[in-house]
Amino acid sequence: MSILLPPESALASAPEVAAKSVTLTNVSMRRPRRLRRTDALRRMVRETVLTVDDLIYPLFVMEGEGLREEVPSMPGCFRYSLDLLLDEVKAAQDLGIGAIALFPLIPHHHKDNGGGESYNPDGLVPRAIRAIKQAVPQMLVITDVALDPYSSEGHDGIVENGQILNDETVAVLVKQALMQAEAGADFVAPSDMMDGRVGAIRQALDAEGWINVGILAYAAKYASAYYGPFRDALDSAPKFGDKKTYQMDAANAREALKEVELDIAEGADIVMVKPALAYLDVICRIKQHTNLPVAAYNVSGEYALVKAAAQQGWIDERTVMLETLTSMKRAGADVILTYFAKEAALALRSY
Ligand code: PBG
Repeated sequence: MSILLPPESALASAPEVAAKSVTLTNVSMRRPRRLRRTDALRRMVRETVLTVDDLIYPLFVMEGEGLREEVPSMPGCFRYSLDLLLDEVKAAQDLGIGAIALFPLIPHHHKDNGGGESYNPDGLVPRAIRAIKQAVPQMLVITDVALDPYSSEGHDGIVENGQILNDETVAVLVKQALMQAEAGADFVAPSDMMDGRVGAIRQALDAEGWINVGILAYAAKYASAYYGPFRDALDSAPKFGDKKTYQMDAANAREALKEVELDIAEGADIVMVKPALAYLDVICRIKQHTNLPVAAYNVSGEYALVKAAAQQGWIDERTVMLETLTSMKRAGADVILTYFAKEAALALRSY
């Protein structure tokens, strides 16, 4: 510590002593500010650089035509009917975004406890995959594997006597993932947190010849109140109870490593932490734990916080957005799912 203190003579010096004589003679003094002096210097020594290549754009799709509905709790975020979704995917591609993640709003009459609609080959998601692959073939399409948008109970699995059944649910998730692969998905992303689903899906994909369809595993997914706006968007909030018997407890980090180890052993290609902002330590620890790419999900509630404060004029949205996404990358995320994808891509052009 003493190395940073100015010499005695400087401390004792009277105000009229020129600033030049203060501390400058101390050869052991370090001046980190030297590297922050100009923009060029700061760019040169910057440790983390966010690029559009890091971003995955989550998109909400719904039935109908010519529809574009703003999600009230997610200003600037819309549910699109398939025709308009294609325009949005093209717009994303024009901004350099290479990947999207699809989430469907399923009409109520298609919802049931077994989630049968989740593997309907003519359902909304497979139709969307096929249409995107035809219209924007280069776009990487990632599809969510879970029952909640299809479940009359709003849970990620089949419900029996108030319990979420694990193995029975995994059997349905396998059918869902196979159907998505068949429709042309590049990656399937199990977000349900049932035990053993990554291995079951990998095995089934391989057995059916889908060896190049990847698995983006929601490995450390927490039972979080930050998902509120997403559940508004898809009308998928649980009808009873909460998701704490399958999603993780916010207080646990070692358990995240365990989940990651299992998903890797079962064949995950990318492991994800979700939410991101309140779990940067988890992202950091997982990054040190594995050589697989690590993804972070900048979830709906994180997006809503920034939008709401910006609408009040309390924060500078563009800067907070870039600072937040950069911090996720600094923590160890190689890939970030974010509703800010388009805005970030635009901002990064002039950053
Ligand atoms: C559902 C799923 C959820 C999200 C992605 N997939 C919600 C939940 O688990 O209740 C949340 C994403 C977000 O909040 O942005 N399996």
